[in-house]
Amino acid sequence: MGFNTWNHFGCNIQEDLIRKTADVIVSSGLKDAGYNYINLDDCWQVARTPDTNEIIPDPKAFPSGIKALADYVHSKGLKFGVYSDAGTNTCAGRPGSLGFETIDAQSYAKWGVDYLKYDNCFNKFISPKTRYPPMRDALNKTGRPILFSMCEWGREDPAKWAPAVGNSWRTTPDIRDEWGSFLNILELNDRWAAYAGPGGWNDPDMLEVGNGGMKTHEYVAHFTLWALIKSPLLIGCDVTNMSTDTYTILTNRELIAWNQDPLGVQGRKVARVFASPQAEPQEVWAGPLVNGAHAVVLFNRDTKNATVKAFWKDIGVPNGKKMKARDVWLHKELGVFQDVFAAQVAAHSVVAVTLTPA
Ligand code: GLA
Repeated sequence: MGFNTWNHFGCNIQEDLIRKTADVIVSSGLKDAGYNYINLDDCWQVARTPDTNEIIPDPKAFPSGIKALADYVHSKGLKFGVYSDAGTNTCAGRPGSLGFETIDAQSYAKWGVDYLKYDNCFNKFISPKTRYPPMRDALNKTGRPILFSMCEWGREDPAKWAPAVGNSWRTTPDIRDEWGSFLNILELNDRWAAYAGPGGWNDPDMLEVGNGGMKTHEYVAHFTLWALIKSPLLIGCDVTNMSTDTYTILTNRELIAWNQDPLGVQGRKVARVFASPQAEPQEVWAGPLVNGAHAVVLFNRDTKNATVKAFWKDIGVPNGKKMKARDVWLHKELGVFQDVFAAQVAAHSVVAVTLTPA
């Protein structure tokens, strides 16, 4: 869990923004809710030293250097991440790390970096299976624990091989701040659910909550499902200027508990029905939690309100078993249910409950 610059700021990043973001992550309570990585995305680097090939941060945007920034972030009790690319250049054209894995990993370790997002542009058409392990090895050789977040966009089915290389792997193209993009990415990521677990996670890309392209109830759906599917929860909005709605969504502790549940099982789509041939579907998404509990999301993708039903047989609870349901958005006990939990769900939104044995 943490924050990344890309979805809101793109290349428009500099050290004051990062310091201010770290300050607000702490003062607003986001850190207490669990968000502890502050990650730079593309555009912090400009060149390499001519003699030793060390990566040079943009002196205009980061005049104090990356180490000073990492120190500041650490002084707030937070962790610090950077970005590079397994190619000649990053996607925004800055210098990439292909062939410079060792020297770059050493710079990151020297600066106190805790997280590396490693992108896939300008890759010379070499397989990521060849290009990502050298950075894994270089990071490991530094002796500093650095989370290795692979970003090859799901091109070569990374769920099948990346668990041996990285700590997380993107399964999809980039998310956009639109309902359709969210749906598309949710669907693409779902097929890899069985491959995720503690130590290696599918990454369906960062949160768009708070960026303005979707309605509040659509962001509620986006956050609920990202929590259920054990996505890395990386905030992608401007936390220095967030609305109460955005803050309320991002700090829903019951959903964060789903996301961080020790069982580490990725929730998945377990049922889908269509009200009519023209309608968008209603779906049930669910996954097991520790102590015999189940996270259940009634997801109405249609543009009309609808009753959505989660049957025990679909979510893996034996028929006849009595389960208590707690609404994790209303923060309210709903009573005891048997064989099915059903609720009225607003268009483009969710009802989310935790079921526990009664
Ligand atoms: C790619 C990645 C994005 C972002 C940009 C930066 O598109 O998939 O997440 O890092 O590059 O240029």
